[in-house]
Amino acid sequence: MNKDKAKIKENESEKSNPEEEILFTSLRASNWDEFHGQKKVKESLKIALTAAKKRKESLEHILLYGPPGLGKTTLSHIIAKEMKANIRITSGPAIERAGDLASILTNLEKGDVLFIDEIHRLNKVVEETLYPAMEDYALDIIIGKGPSARTLRLDLPQFTIVGATTRIGLMSAPLRDRFGVVYRLSFYEPEDLEKIILEGAKKLKLSIDKDSVKEIAKRARGTPRIALKLLKRVRDFVEVKSDGKMTKELVRQALDMLEVDELGLDSSDIRYLKSLIQKHNGGPVGIETIASTISEDIGTIEEVIEPYLLQIGFLKKTTRGRVATKAAYDHLKIKYPHEEEDKKGKQQKLI
Ligand SMILES: Nc1ncnc2c1ncn2[C@@H]1O[C@H](COP(=O)(O)OP(=O)(O)OP(=O)(O)O)[C@@H](O)[C@H]1O
Ligand SMILES: [Mg+2]
Repeated sequence: MNKDKAKIKENESEKSNPEEEILFTSLRASNWDEFHGQKKVKESLKIALTAAKKRKESLEHILLYGPPGLGKTTLSHIIAKEMKANIRITSGPAIERAGDLASILTNLEKGDVLFIDEIHRLNKVVEETLYPAMEDYALDIIIGKGPSARTLRLDLPQFTIVGATTRIGLMSAPLRDRFGVVYRLSFYEPEDLEKIILEGAKKLKLSIDKDSVKEIAKRARGTPRIALKLLKRVRDFVEVKSDGKMTKELVRQALDMLEVDELGLDSSDIRYLKSLIQKHNGGPVGIETIASTISEDIGTIEEVIEPYLLQIGFLKKTTRGRVATKAAYDHLKIKYPHEEEDKKGKQQKLI
């Protein structure tokens, strides 16, 4: 990965860059009215929240999963706010020992929401301590060592865990099963991204025309975080290049400069597709091979690059490996060489 690309990837995690963190916190949707899209998840969550409030019970544990930047952290804050509960925030890698978890859990109050980000990264011992806490609101503490060791059971207040992960496949089944509800967040439709961009522009006190909003939404890879980030970069560009008035043409220039193409693909996506097509004849090829050809981390490929390429139909996952589709060839303006094979029905079995 060269430096620029490393920077883009780094920025994709709001935690890694203080400037972006402030921006996203200030732009974060803070209630249902500001949270656009994900209609099904929203409806189902609203029902669960209303029911819990009516029964005056704490909410079931909720697991949110999906690619980065789709609103998992945002939703957890809205859930806590709706329940009029405090939210405690931690993450899988931050809870190193069972003792760390015990101190978090014993400090919770009734009804609190405990948000555990990157929950797939909890270690085994911590995970096992979490099971009785999730099921019975109890904490088993071992006192002493060796033959005289005893287990002490501590009662915990009723609380709700909201877990978030970009890699549900890496979670153990017993942990997954302990969540009452599991929601998958999917990529956003352009219309929803347009609303999110307008909301963001309002908060940034930017005047922006409809065409510019559309242009940014089109290139945001179905992801609110990218939409807001592009909005901010475009604003900077327009401030420097003109009197500050956004026009579609300036927006285009800004986005081209950022190497975001018409479909929102960035240089990493293009490198991935080119490697698949030009070095591996369009596949099928294993992910490890692609990863080493483009010197990219497998996790990033699976978590960030591939979900969107699969979504827009540029990529297929088959039993024998990754395959580029005709649409991907067309987008890169490379002649598709497998037309005849496709016609004969020699397609790869999808997984
Ligand atoms: N549905 C939405 N409506 C409005 N804004 C949204 C929506 N979803 C996300 N956003 C905005 O996008 C940004 C990123 O969202 P968020 O941090 O919740 O993503 P995430 O799924 O937690 O990502 P990660 O997996 O990297 O932690 C935030 O500024 C948030 O306000
Ligand atoms: Mg998050």
